[in-house]
Amino acid sequence: MSFSSITKFIVTASAVLAFMGCGSDDDDDPMLDCNSTEAMTASMAGAAVIMASCAGCHSAPNPPGGVTLPEDVMSSAARIRARAVDAKTMPPAAPLNDQDVSDLSAYLDCL
Ligand code: HEC
Repeated sequence: MSFSSITKFIVTASAVLAFMGCGSDDDDDPMLDCNSTEAMTASMAGAAVIMASCAGCHSAPNPPGGVTLPEDVMSSAARIRARAVDAKTMPPAAPLNDQDVSDLSAYLDCL
């Protein structure tokens, strides 16, 4: 391989890697790399938050707001973010603590 083809390979490989991350549409944390161990750990903790703090109320056959959790996480991600991360009006009695909000946010970002 000549020097210039090695350079081309490196440039191409870097571009491919840059596109591989699942990215983030969360303006608060635009640099979140969903493939990082940190994001994966937060994401798993965020899934646990849904189970521990939301699923009890949001269960079939008559889930409040029409949202069954965890089943509807994908289809209701924007509504979940709006209520539990942004407005902090879910759960109704007491908002999630900062750690849970941050983990849930990572989970929703990396779905
Ligand atoms: C104590 C029971 C309870 C818990 C716990 C609870 N919810 Fe709710 N949730 C409700 C009720 C009741 C409604 C319907 C009234 C309302 O929208 O405020 C609702 C509505 C919603 C909606 C629908 C809002 C819309 O767009 O119409 C979402 C999304 C939601 N909850 C997410 C969550 C998440 C995420 C959690 C956990 C962090 C959670 N809820 C925990 C009772 C609960």
